[in-house]
Amino acid sequence: SGEPSAVHVKKCKEIISTLPRKKGWKGSSDYLHQYQGFWYYDSFLEGIMSAQDHFQARSQDIIVASCPKTGTTWLKALTFAIATRTSFDDSTCTSPLLTKAPHECVPFLEIDLANDSSNRNMELNLVATHIPYVSLPHSILASGCKIVYIWRDPKDVFVSMWYFVAKQMISKDSEPISLEEAFELFCQGIVNYGPYWDHVLGFWRARVEFPEKIMFVKYEEMMKDTCFYVKKLAEFMGYPFTSEEEERGMVENVINMCKFEKLSNLEVNKNGMHRPNTSLEIENNLYFRKGKVGDWENELTAEMGARLDWIVEQKLSGSGLKL
Ligand code: A3P
Repeated sequence: SGEPSAVHVKKCKEIISTLPRKKGWKGSSDYLHQYQGFWYYDSFLEGIMSAQDHFQARSQDIIVASCPKTGTTWLKALTFAIATRTSFDDSTCTSPLLTKAPHECVPFLEIDLANDSSNRNMELNLVATHIPYVSLPHSILASGCKIVYIWRDPKDVFVSMWYFVAKQMISKDSEPISLEEAFELFCQGIVNYGPYWDHVLGFWRARVEFPEKIMFVKYEEMMKDTCFYVKKLAEFMGYPFTSEEEERGMVENVINMCKFEKLSNLEVNKNGMHRPNTSLEIENNLYFRKGKVGDWENELTAEMGARLDWIVEQKLSGSGLKL
């Protein structure tokens, strides 16, 4: 079953109780724990530990990796649409993306598959994760899986995260953390799956070492030239568009089906729930806010923006990766 064993939960709780702890973003009794260099909420950390113990990757699996709020939902939709395009006849609009949230279409490793690797549609070889490179389950690296990694301007990541957390708190009738307070924590790297820059750098360094296994996409660049990146993604994933498909407009079909405006207006994404009746229940609409580049300018002062840029530039310096 997909349930963790009582022994596993006990073991995790014991380990977690020994880890460094900081106040999180969700009020006074909310904590993040630091494990292998990154900060987590316990529910995610238990899943990560379990995935490290149990997850069996298949060599044909493609890992859709990201830090939260960098465009995961979009990349899940795109990779799913690319991989399944021949199974669903676009003329009759049968793609599951029209009736299921992208997060339901592509399973989330440390939650959905943490305790049971086979708890998924085996015909689909996509597995999404926010786990940092250093903490990926060994079998992913041993199986030589390809990894697609999306990243994004940290200022927009921060603003997106702040709204994501604040909206969840408001919906539970609690007082959201102030933007300034959250910004301080983000700048210190204290955020679920943070430090953000270390997350990006981990995958970047791995890409330098294994360029044929890891593809990097930047949210801003894919927004600017989606067609170019969708074709590149398809090629990297091993599902290149044929010239006949290109002539039939299949690239545009994929792009249009995954557009923010399209997905965010679907009934399932407007009013549906992800993981209903569980402790991780969440409204699908929280994954769709604005979908814009540079929205941080409406929320942060120029000084805040410059400070975060400076921090991240320092961290990235010498890596070959530029903001
Ligand atoms: P904003 O909060 O800036 O609008 P993640 O999917 O990693 O949680 O990231 C969420 C961010 O991606 C949100 O950013 C969300 O609006 C944006 N997003 C969701 N779906 C998108 C899509 N189809 N195209 C572009 N951006 C999208």
